[in-house]
Amino acid sequence: MAIPHRKLTVVGAGYVGMTCAQLCAQKGLASEIVVIDIDEGRAKGIALDLNQMAAIEGFSSRLVGTADPKDTRDSDLFIVTAGLPRKPGMSRSDLLETNGKIVTQVAGYVRDFSPDSFVIVVTNPLDTMVHLMRVKTGFPPKRVIGMAGVLDSARFSWFIAEETGAHVQDVDAMVLGAHGDSMVPMTQFCTVNGVTLGHLVTKDKISAMADRTRNGGAEIVNLLKTGSAFFAPAAASVAMARSILNDEHRMLPCAAFLNGQYGFEGIYMGVPAILGAEGVEKIVEVPLDTESRIQMQKTAGAIQKDLELLRNLALL
Ligand code: NAI
Ligand code: 2OP
Repeated sequence: MAIPHRKLTVVGAGYVGMTCAQLCAQKGLASEIVVIDIDEGRAKGIALDLNQMAAIEGFSSRLVGTADPKDTRDSDLFIVTAGLPRKPGMSRSDLLETNGKIVTQVAGYVRDFSPDSFVIVVTNPLDTMVHLMRVKTGFPPKRVIGMAGVLDSARFSWFIAEETGAHVQDVDAMVLGAHGDSMVPMTQFCTVNGVTLGHLVTKDKISAMADRTRNGGAEIVNLLKTGSAFFAPAAASVAMARSILNDEHRMLPCAAFLNGQYGFEGIYMGVPAILGAEGVEKIVEVPLDTESRIQMQKTAGAIQKDLELLRNLALL
């Protein structure tokens, strides 16, 4: 299959990164996919394994594993997954200092070697790491986007599918706000094939599913014990990359830079955004009821708090 002559770099060859690389190759998103990690052997091993997988799966992307930032030169898009994942009992904010240093280092070579690229940040704590990436690259905000809402919405969709017995693809769910305990599942906008959730499930059940969504990452951390979720996070990141690279104009909830939208200024937060060839082409403002408005204020407060911690650590 002919694939576009493009270069995509996945930073971090851990669980999320390697799954991103696999999905990008299988979906034919780029002719060259670089996998970069400080663990050179791991990056090279993942790339080699995936190149050999091509013989069976028939994809045409060529994978390159490296620890050398120069190999990422002229990338069209980066998916940044480098950093520590949570262990049981840890919050995403516990990762702030270590991952802040990693994101700062990565931003340096993204800016220097690929000044026209798009960046999708996955590293936690997401809303602050994407903010840091934008500041350190100096890129326009529409080219630096955080992945969280697609994942959190997919989790909510799955719980609704399980509860209603409907196919998960018939479910439309939307989760906004921070990627943390304060995230805002927008229950009033959830539908199953156009039917409002409130017509199908009791209020108590909706509220329980919303809580489980807020706790969705921790639920998997507690089950896995040695790391965090990676299949759905990788699929969510690649869906965003695809919408940008293929100019699909999908409306996806993602961490975008707010310039007055939803009443917030100068922070990244999960909102519905149209992603296309320009990156964030539009932030879509949906009407909020009083309860969601209060929750959005709370979630913005949590992000501001993490940004303050980052400033206190002199990382921002
Ligand atoms: P992992 O531990 O499997 O992989 C992380 C990789 O980053 C390791 O291979 C490590 O060597 C590499 N790394 C560390 N410093 C680096 C540097 N300076 N340059 C390049 N590579 C470097 O972790 P996993 O599960 O892949 O998660 C990665 C990150 O993504 C974590 O911070 C995790 O919390 C976050 N995450 C975020 C989600 C979201 O919704 N935004 C969802 C899932 C994970
Ligand atoms: C998740 O939500 C840990 O942020 C990661 O799975």
